Amino acid sequence: MNENRLPATLQWMGPPNGFLRLLDQTCLPQTEVFLDCHTIAEVVDAIRRLVVRGAPAIGLAAAYGVVLGVADAVKKGTDPNLAVGTSIDQLAASRPTAVNLFWALEKMRAAAAAVSPIELPEHLLRVAKQLHAADRETCRQIGQHGLTLLESCTGVLTHCNAGALAASAHGTALAAIYAAAELNPDLRVYADETRPLLQGARLTAWELHRSGVNTCVICDNMAAALMREGKIDAVIVGADRIAGNGDTANKIGTYGLAIIASYHAIPFYVAAPLSTFDLQLRDGCQIPIEQRAAAEVTHPAGVARVPEGVAVENPAFDVTPADLITAIVTERGIIRPVDQQHIEALAS
Ligand code: MRU
Repeated sequence: MNENRLPATLQWMGPPNGFLRLLDQTCLPQTEVFLDCHTIAEVVDAIRRLVVRGAPAIGLAAAYGVVLGVADAVKKGTDPNLAVGTSIDQLAASRPTAVNLFWALEKMRAAAAAVSPIELPEHLLRVAKQLHAADRETCRQIGQHGLTLLESCTGVLTHCNAGALAASAHGTALAAIYAAAELNPDLRVYADETRPLLQGARLTAWELHRSGVNTCVICDNMAAALMREGKIDAVIVGADRIAGNGDTANKIGTYGLAIIASYHAIPFYVAAPLSTFDLQLRDGCQIPIEQRAAAEVTHPAGVARVPEGVAVENPAFDVTPADLITAIVTERGIIRPVDQQHIEALAS
């Protein structure tokens, strides 16, 4: 599968005083437009509005955001070291669940501590680009390991978007799917539409279809029926944060999918880089879950679909308990069974 058929999710343009160009995912699939972020405030806003989304991509955008924050301080003649801390604080407040954001920001903090103020702008840009390049390689490795789990499948289901749009290269869960589709072009990939923001219907379907993968969108409430009909051999999803015992936060709806996969004895896989593990958390109860605006549920695409005044819940993520996860695919290999012992053996 050729990732070159897809425009870059995020890219740094120009020299150290350049800017971050994001493919605006809020406009897909209708239009392919780019949003150029020249300031850290624009990056924070882009992350909050899901112009850029998906755990690894958020982390990379934040790393470039620190570069912009420090460049601004240099331009204004204020203390660039101070700007590192304030930039990290601003970016850390953008979204709470995906730990890759905080992981990338800590990498930037450590990088900043290693050089003198005069070297900071170029050094930070170099490190952000290194993180970006490392993510491409990580995605490739996850794809290769994930392929071993999907190579005999004829139907695979995924939820939300854990592909090129959520990371670099072919993403995480979709990297395994792209690799399996390369081997078996008849592989049918079912993409849950993923209410309320439709990352599956809008984004996963867009990138898979454009890459020539046999793709079929289903409403979220159709998965169980398809499983009963024998159309789905495996489920594979990405992750936003994985606790030390393997409990996994991912897009809302993932937990329900894991339950129905278990009921139908269908393997349920999670694919994620090691930067998605938060080994400081004993279990998933401690994972902060982002609550998003009610309007995402009441007014899809701006149209009122819920009577005014009715209460709405809109958690963006849920936590799937480790015992519902058959295996976790990482760049270093596959964790199976999913428990603290096997996670520590591979991830720490
Ligand atoms: O709210 P989003 O679109 O950022 O949620 C994204 C997901 O839940 C993805 O499945 C997850 O970040 C994994 S991306 C490789």
